[in-house]
Amino acid sequence: MIEFQHVFKSYGRGRNILADINFRVEAGEFVFVSGPSGAGKSTLLKLIGGLEPSSRGSVQVNNQRLEKMTARARPYLRRAVGVILQDTHLLFDRTALANVMLPLAVTGNPTATASARARAALEKVGLSGKEDLSPIELSGGEQQRLAIARAIVNRPAILIADEPTANLDHDTATRIMNVFRDFNRVGVTLLIASHDQELMARYATRTLRIDNGKFADSKGAQA
Ligand SMILES: Nc1ncnc2c1ncn2[C@@H]1O[C@H](COP(=O)(O)OP(=O)(O)OP(=O)(O)O)[C@@H](O)[C@H]1O
Ligand SMILES: [Mg+2]
Repeated sequence: MIEFQHVFKSYGRGRNILADINFRVEAGEFVFVSGPSGAGKSTLLKLIGGLEPSSRGSVQVNNQRLEKMTARARPYLRRAVGVILQDTHLLFDRTALANVMLPLAVTGNPTATASARARAALEKVGLSGKEDLSPIELSGGEQQRLAIARAIVNRPAILIADEPTANLDHDTATRIMNVFRDFNRVGVTLLIASHDQELMARYATRTLRIDNGKFADSKGAQA
């Protein structure tokens, strides 16, 4: 469950990027966030992932108010929410496999288990055979898929993805979207920021449209 109540966000002393945002996403929903460039889509996802604080209002994820969350509770949120950003934050001095194993190592999985699960995640996103390469040796789209593998390897309850198919060709984008859809079918809540009308028409059950920091919550706008 994700809930925003009267959420405002500005960076520093700047203007409001988000202004009085209100919405609720139930567990298990598959929701797109759309809107023009600069509308505030990435900002919204960063608030949900706890990567940026709201300036005012209440952001709740899994019944936790992020504004009230203690430092100790934060790692649990990180585990519950898989985040795929436009800027992938991959570690270039480690192999692809090691990048995907990282979230599992943090949660204390034995190396053999972590390695097997990381390989399975890489296979899901079509990166089998690239385990031992550095992200530097991967294309932009491959790096993006590596970031997706890293985000899904922990089987988070909520997945938020910022333009996850923006650098991918049609077939690869479809493959990735089907990975997301399979996750959604087993109960994972999905929030995806995208400009891609065709993709939204094909996959979305609901689209939240954002413009100028304001929401036109069009529940079921896209059947
Ligand atoms: N770290 C930051 N500091 C200051 N301003 C920022 C920061 N990040 C984003 N902004 C501003 O917030 C506004 C919304 O940015 P955001 O990245 O959320 O838009 P977006 O809808 O994701 O756009 P795009 O479709 O181009 O990715 C932009 O005008 C941008 O300049
Ligand atoms: Mg963005």
